[in-house]
Amino acid sequence: MSADKPNIVVLISGSGTNLQAIIDYVANGAIPANIAAVISNIPNVKGLERAQKAGITTSVISHKEFASRDQFDAELTLKIDSFNPDLVILAGFMRILGDDFVNHYQGKMLNIHPSLLPKFTGLHTHKRALEAGETNHGTSVHFVTSELDGGPVIIQATVTVLPDDSEESLAQRVLVQEHRIYPLVTKWFIEGRLKFDIAGNQITYDGSKLESIIKIDADTPVGKMLDWLPKLKT
Ligand code: GRF
Repeated sequence: MSADKPNIVVLISGSGTNLQAIIDYVANGAIPANIAAVISNIPNVKGLERAQKAGITTSVISHKEFASRDQFDAELTLKIDSFNPDLVILAGFMRILGDDFVNHYQGKMLNIHPSLLPKFTGLHTHKRALEAGETNHGTSVHFVTSELDGGPVIIQATVTVLPDDSEESLAQRVLVQEHRIYPLVTKWFIEGRLKFDIAGNQITYDGSKLESIIKIDADTPVGKMLDWLPKLKT
């Protein structure tokens, strides 16, 4: 652990491709942080392997070993806090977290959700988007509040739904966008530019209110997003 950089703790439950994207940005210096730990509620998942390969401390806290959600949350909190996190990232973490847990990390916990929120909160978002005949679908990064998938959204990436899309093909294109926007938001947060002003219930960027959700599409180059964000300053 390096003392001079902010600490990130990442929570996962599965394949960890978003985790990998963040690992890569940290490794190449774009995110000036230390991934202090990766914690999974499911043993033996691919995301744990990715973390170990990158030399990151891992931990498994199986929800199945706890009689209640509160007990699981309490143990998870202890573990996370032992790493002194400046930011907690939910990256495919498939557990609903209790209010105490969420409030404890309010303003410093991010989630990525595979839909254009507020559409399709919860599970099976790609299937539901197809069934609803959506022409656009995508992904959202938001601060976590006690409302499920309901905290303030920072950025959304849109993908066009193609006539012959399957759940898998759509999910795959959404994932590509997730790997672009999640590291970016992480970077903005770690650099201290992006904040959730809880009292004012607003997101600020360089101290100014983010007036609307940042929206990009599959063709928007990441470099352009980096150039463009400062223009949000009012
Ligand atoms: C992503 O689609 C994310 O939006 C959702 O779960 C999936 C996780 O994928 N919350 P991965 O584990 O990062 O590959």
